Amino acid sequence: MSTHTFPEGFLWGAATASYQVEGGIENCDWAKAAQEERVPVCGRACDHYYRYAEDFDLAKGLGHNAHRFSIEWARIEPEEGKFDEREIEHYRDVLRSLRARGLVPYVTLWHFTLPVWFTNRGGWLCTDAPDVFARYCTFVVRELGDLADNYATINEPIVYASNGWIRGIWPPFQKFAPVDLATIVTTVERERAASRIRWTPYTYLKVRRSLARAHNSAYAAIKKERPRADVSIVKNVIVYDSDGSLLNRLKAWLMNRHWTYSFMDRVGKQTDSIGLNYYFYKKFGDTATYDKTDMHWDIVPHEIATGLRMLARYGKPLYVAEAGLADQHDTKRAAYIKNTVQAVEEVVRDGIDIRAFFYWSLLDNYEWAAGFGQRFGLVEVDYDTLARTVRPSAYAYRDTIEHGVRAEKGA
Ligand code: BGC
Repeated sequence: MSTHTFPEGFLWGAATASYQVEGGIENCDWAKAAQEERVPVCGRACDHYYRYAEDFDLAKGLGHNAHRFSIEWARIEPEEGKFDEREIEHYRDVLRSLRARGLVPYVTLWHFTLPVWFTNRGGWLCTDAPDVFARYCTFVVRELGDLADNYATINEPIVYASNGWIRGIWPPFQKFAPVDLATIVTTVERERAASRIRWTPYTYLKVRRSLARAHNSAYAAIKKERPRADVSIVKNVIVYDSDGSLLNRLKAWLMNRHWTYSFMDRVGKQTDSIGLNYYFYKKFGDTATYDKTDMHWDIVPHEIATGLRMLARYGKPLYVAEAGLADQHDTKRAAYIKNTVQAVEEVVRDGIDIRAFFYWSLLDNYEWAAGFGQRFGLVEVDYDTLARTVRPSAYAYRDTIEHGVRAEKGA
């Protein structure tokens, strides 16, 4: 018997993203970066492009009733303005396959990888980039709209911008190296004179602004095309907290503004719902030590509740688009999921409208700059044979979906 307080019709599932699982994508910026040996090669990945039906069978068998996945822009629009009908047909098959299994599709239109032509013409720094993106989104929704109602425009805009323009670990690898003020001023002056400011923090802010515009343009265009579609943005929220001291409270306030609110304030009105990706909790002045994932990220599942409450201020329905961990030996995942779901349930009980929960990820996959070594999957993938093996935690998640949660100690 279910002990849930989750509302009737709540959706449960797992998420994936095209480049991380499909395989065979060679015309995007990540593939190009791999050819230049700047990031690991993705190759055939999990071969999900051909094995999606088998993977959806697994999801269904694990009690899921929804699935989040993304469309590869470079497949749909391999050349600027030229759309590939065969690839649309592929994603129509994917959607039919989900629906046939009773899995409600959540479609993400852009999850980090860009067509090479788009980056060659200046990427997000081009003034018409938001319109170009909106045109792609409109095309996809026009073609898939009869098979899916839920669309997210952009996945994790701030993670994308900071990894590309501050940390310099993702394409286009613009790393910010702190330099003294005099150098910064002269660089900006010189570049302004040449009317191309490339100083990375400045460009980073420009990219953020462009992504907010891209979401807003895509939102308006999709709603015009298909008014009934639910159009959302997926925001990674790092929950910044403090030990209560004045200085640390100030730090946490500033970081929450910088990372979450300053972006969400620009898009929060033009969205039907908001997806939360939750992975990080950072408390200034914290003396506690936390158990770690294989990526050495602190495991703090219950703070997802704060992440949801932070987004609730925009007054839109929410869903958990991602929460998960790298745990190759599957010793921590089951407790992590239970405790995460329990925290989500508390927020639901407070009356906040939450509609779905997607664990990241259904399958082990290509973890960006970290390659294939990190294992986030409910299902293990053997990259030599492509065999899938369901991990025990996937059954624990099924149990949670069916019967509700009791918190696990130690996670
Ligand atoms: C992204 C995923 C990624 C996961 C784990 C999120 O930032 O949306 O693509 O694999 O976190 O790092």
